[in-house]
Amino acid sequence: MNQYIEKNKERFLEELFELLRIPSVSADPTYKNDVIKTADAVAESLKKAGADKVEICETAGYPIVYAEKMIDDKKPTILVYGHYDVQPADPIALWHSKPFEPVIKNDKIYARGACDDKGQMFMHVKAFEAMMQTNTLPCNVKFMIEGEEEVGSTNLGIFVNQNQDKLKADIILISDTGIIANDIPSITVGLRGLSYVEVEVTGPNRDLHSGLYGGAVANPINILCEMIAKLKDDKNHITIPGFYDDVEILTAEERAEMAKAPFNLDAYKKALDLSDIHGEDDYTTNERTSIRPTLDVNGIWGGYTGEGAKTVIASKAYAKISMRLVPHQNSDKITAQFADYFSKIAPPSVKIKVTPHHGGEPVVTPSNSIAYKSAAMAMETTFGKKPVPVRSGGSIPIVAMFKSVLGLDSVLLGFGLDSDAIHSPNESYGLFNFFKGIETIPHFYKNFSELHQK
Ligand code: BES
Ligand code: MN
Ligand code: MN
Repeated sequence: MNQYIEKNKERFLEELFELLRIPSVSADPTYKNDVIKTADAVAESLKKAGADKVEICETAGYPIVYAEKMIDDKKPTILVYGHYDVQPADPIALWHSKPFEPVIKNDKIYARGACDDKGQMFMHVKAFEAMMQTNTLPCNVKFMIEGEEEVGSTNLGIFVNQNQDKLKADIILISDTGIIANDIPSITVGLRGLSYVEVEVTGPNRDLHSGLYGGAVANPINILCEMIAKLKDDKNHITIPGFYDDVEILTAEERAEMAKAPFNLDAYKKALDLSDIHGEDDYTTNERTSIRPTLDVNGIWGGYTGEGAKTVIASKAYAKISMRLVPHQNSDKITAQFADYFSKIAPPSVKIKVTPHHGGEPVVTPSNSIAYKSAAMAMETTFGKKPVPVRSGGSIPIVAMFKSVLGLDSVLLGFGLDSDAIHSPNESYGLFNFFKGIETIPHFYKNFSELHQK
């Protein structure tokens, strides 16, 4: 196996680069043809790797690539999930090399999607190829690679609902998360949910001269800032009534267990050029990004932002706000609570509109299952160290649906690093991580197949 990987390293990279060169930005309709082209390329790569049945499944949005290799009905089935779409590359000016022209620098691949998720998804295609070529595929495998993860996976949710038989499996395997460090392997056992809204504040019916009207009418930008400021108190608690009602409270023991995960606050601050951290009182940095919900403005605009000074009171101001949720919060309920409160705190001098975007539910995956053990043993073999279970702050909305619709747990066997800068300019993925993933995945297949029989 390792020999096969070693021999074909250069080709694996060249093939990944071909995927990375297609700008499959799902959020921006300009790239529609490229997103579709990427689906075709992924399907082709699965065919070449040895899948029997490869299908491009059309949806109301971008297609889902489905493939399978069934070797024996009595053997377990692994369903691999990943996504071929990527985040927009903006702001382009901050990239040191072009986002869709992958380059290797300092042993890292630089490109949009290098880590999230083309690089990680492609590890599965190559691990599958390696097992096929060395006659070591120990069980059945199905692949479901979607093109709308970065925009909320709405159509995948419908697809999963409608194809429960087709997707029958024993476990879901996903590489779309990270590890603590290259010498500290970890397995993600929790993801936060998401509630995402856009708000619009309207003051006067047209833009006004800020001298003639300033001081006498509501400035929607000022009002929006005041309203946003009211969403958290001085302890950084979210003030939306009922927001914390369903939040799972961990015991002191559980928190002590979590605190064992290695974390270096100085290195964390240094990596982000921060003189201090900021967050909810009484919680550690790791807790703030995993077991606690949060609220962040993701974008805010309005008024004049061009060159020089324009004296104007804008008619409208806008913001995009995300709330990351933890077990057992519910995204629809939180969105409704937000909308309610946001309307309540608006002064009568403005009108407001709240538009909900996609959401997703939080999940915790078991860390005592056969599947978790199989992943932990696989990592222990290839890293030489037992992985640490960690809860992540990110979201993969489909994971909760895999559980609720298909009744299946997921194993989040990711290999990215925080320093990979996913969603940011100069996204990268380490060559070490790419090849370590390809090496580790077959061990998971083998361990799971063996443990599952018992
Ligand atoms: N792969 C990420 C999620 C992730 C990254 C989880 C690292 C854990 C560790 C995924 O592609 C992503 O970005 N998800 C979005 C949610 C989606 C609804 C836009 C997110 O978390 O913002
Ligand atoms: Mn991802
Ligand atoms: Mn992402």
